[in-house]
Amino acid sequence: MADTQSGESSQTGPIAPSKPYPWPGVVRAYAPFLPVNEDTRIITLLEGNTPLIPAPYLSAVTGLDVYLKFEGANPTGSFKDRGMAMAMTKAVEDGATTVMCASTGNTSASAAAYAVRAGLRCVVVLPAGKIALGKLAQALVYGAEVLAIPGNFDRALEIARELTAKYPITLVNSVNPYRIEGQTTAAYEVCDALRGRAPDYLFIPVGNAGNITAYWKGFTRYQRAGKVDGTPMMLGFEAEGSAALVRGAPIAEPETIATAIRIGNPASWQGAVGAARDSGGTIGSVTDDEILEAYRLIARREGVMAEPASAASVAGLLKMAAGGDARLRRAGGKPVAVCVLTGNGLKDPDIAVAQARNTPKTVPAELDAIAEAVLGGAGGAARGHGSGAESVGGASGVSEASGTGGPSLAPRKAGK
Ligand SMILES: Cc1ncc(COP(=O)(O)O)c(C=O)c1O
Repeated sequence: MADTQSGESSQTGPIAPSKPYPWPGVVRAYAPFLPVNEDTRIITLLEGNTPLIPAPYLSAVTGLDVYLKFEGANPTGSFKDRGMAMAMTKAVEDGATTVMCASTGNTSASAAAYAVRAGLRCVVVLPAGKIALGKLAQALVYGAEVLAIPGNFDRALEIARELTAKYPITLVNSVNPYRIEGQTTAAYEVCDALRGRAPDYLFIPVGNAGNITAYWKGFTRYQRAGKVDGTPMMLGFEAEGSAALVRGAPIAEPETIATAIRIGNPASWQGAVGAARDSGGTIGSVTDDEILEAYRLIARREGVMAEPASAASVAGLLKMAAGGDARLRRAGGKPVAVCVLTGNGLKDPDIAVAQARNTPKTVPAELDAIAEAVLGGAGGAARGHGSGAESVGGASGVSEASGTGGPSLAPRKAGK
């Protein structure tokens, strides 16, 4: 793209706001595209306006101009806040008193927070023992009523759907059309950040398939409105053990380390299949090893920590690029690829610690001991080098290690 920030990890130049300031949240920022009017009471935590971060390392290894849409920067740390702002706004407008959702974790965190802002009671149904610690902590701290069932997400959603059909409780899963509407705003933001053009490719994790459905709706709507000329090829990635769309049939016992996309019967099945078909893209799958390799790589090479499910988008990009997929070749210019990083890496501290591959080194609180650790170990364990364990270079043929050695640390000269 003809953009000076392309491939750069730092920026210089004039500082001028090009977005609404102060940022009003996604519903107000994109009101002309959403089902609201001037009288609507908008429920917001000022979500959205998340960074589209240039990814120089991924650009170099794939030959594309790669950006990361970091949805972990939303108020509760995931993309769900976009849809939840819209769904809660409509729930309040419709006079709801109670909202409910089934969740693999992020929806519950988001629903719980937005219910507080809306003044509504919030009940969440979760698969017991399959929720990342940070997400569970969020739902509890925001004060939601948390019900854990001995079953998977798909069963939790069945129950939530049945219950909300029977009682006056508003379902705020992505089967609620307002959730999808709110999530279209991420597509508008991507196009705006690229200065009025759509990316050539959008890589995105797929679980219940609401988000890929929303992005596609957003891109096509923006095109029809004359905001952009084209739409991206949509490339969705499921985890292999939960890849119902790829297999073409629901999976009764889905499995993956990426708990956020551990879903065997995606509710927005047709939306995902339609987005892939109509954009000339595809729904693929990535293994847990590929997901974890991408997870470590974006942290160590790009300085971005997303949750494991999010890394499925980058794993998909690396897999297609390493396989020389012909769909990634385009005549003229360097194609622009956006990988959606759906959630913040801090949500899943257990996986983070297990994947870090370096541990804190306990040292005495003495200058000599610290100096020995910093200087004696040629970079030392504290920087995570020297064990050799982090340089694995998996199926993608790239390594997540952040370089070897370090800057020379000769003693300062006197007076400096
Ligand atoms: C972090 C994260 N990534 C991806 C997804 C999948 O999104 P969708 O269910 O809309 O396909 C989820 C869903 O919970 C999620 O929490």
